[in-house]
Amino acid sequence: MKLICCNFKMNLLKKDIENYLNNINNKIEKERVIFFPSIPYIESFNKENYLVGSQNISFNEFGSITGDTSIHQLKELGITYTIIGHSERRKYFDDDKYISKKINLALNNNIKTILCIGELEKLSEEETNSFLKSEIDQAFLDNINLINENNLIIAYEPIWAIGSGVIPDNNCLNNTISFIKNYIKESYNLNIKVLYGGSVKLDNIDNLEKINIIDGYLIGGASLNPSDILSLQSKIK
Ligand code: 13P
Repeated sequence: MKLICCNFKMNLLKKDIENYLNNINNKIEKERVIFFPSIPYIESFNKENYLVGSQNISFNEFGSITGDTSIHQLKELGITYTIIGHSERRKYFDDDKYISKKINLALNNNIKTILCIGELEKLSEEETNSFLKSEIDQAFLDNINLINENNLIIAYEPIWAIGSGVIPDNNCLNNTISFIKNYIKESYNLNIKVLYGGSVKLDNIDNLEKINIIDGYLIGGASLNPSDILSLQSKIK
């Protein structure tokens, strides 16, 4: 059963969320679909019917950090997941040091972590693997005593594929995801799930579904449309 993670990013207003919830009412498979709305709307999702996560957490637990939201505050809103290290946050705010601290906080507080990794531009297979290896090591090294096969999931999102409509071909994707899984198994002795993210849509999902080793998807744009997400749910096995 593959995971379907819906990253709304900084989209949708209150009315849109209400319409969205009316449209998906009772039709979502709670155990495998996770919604990541903006913080003001986390409470709009009834946690009896939906799994909900945050798109980020603060690197600190409390204190004078203007504009941040702590893991404890987010837990009070009912999150059970968080995304950490999304490329859009790495671009403006987060470096490897902050990402490592955030993973530590999330896992210490029993919040499941979707750790995003991915290269900025199309690279050779060797260059891609070496880039991903470094992102994995930076995130894992200080947290290895906390990470297990149930509390951390990798989302491989090549940055050039996000929002562009262009995705890696099946062969490349298969090789890259195999590399990630094998590398983590060999280096850290963990069987970690790997999601794919980047321009996942109704018109490419059948093709992506041919890649058996993908454990699910992190979906941006297409997750904003309730009918698309319901159709994707029916196509993702
Ligand atoms: P798109 O599906 O819009 O390309 O976004 C992917 C993404 O960044 C999900 O986190």
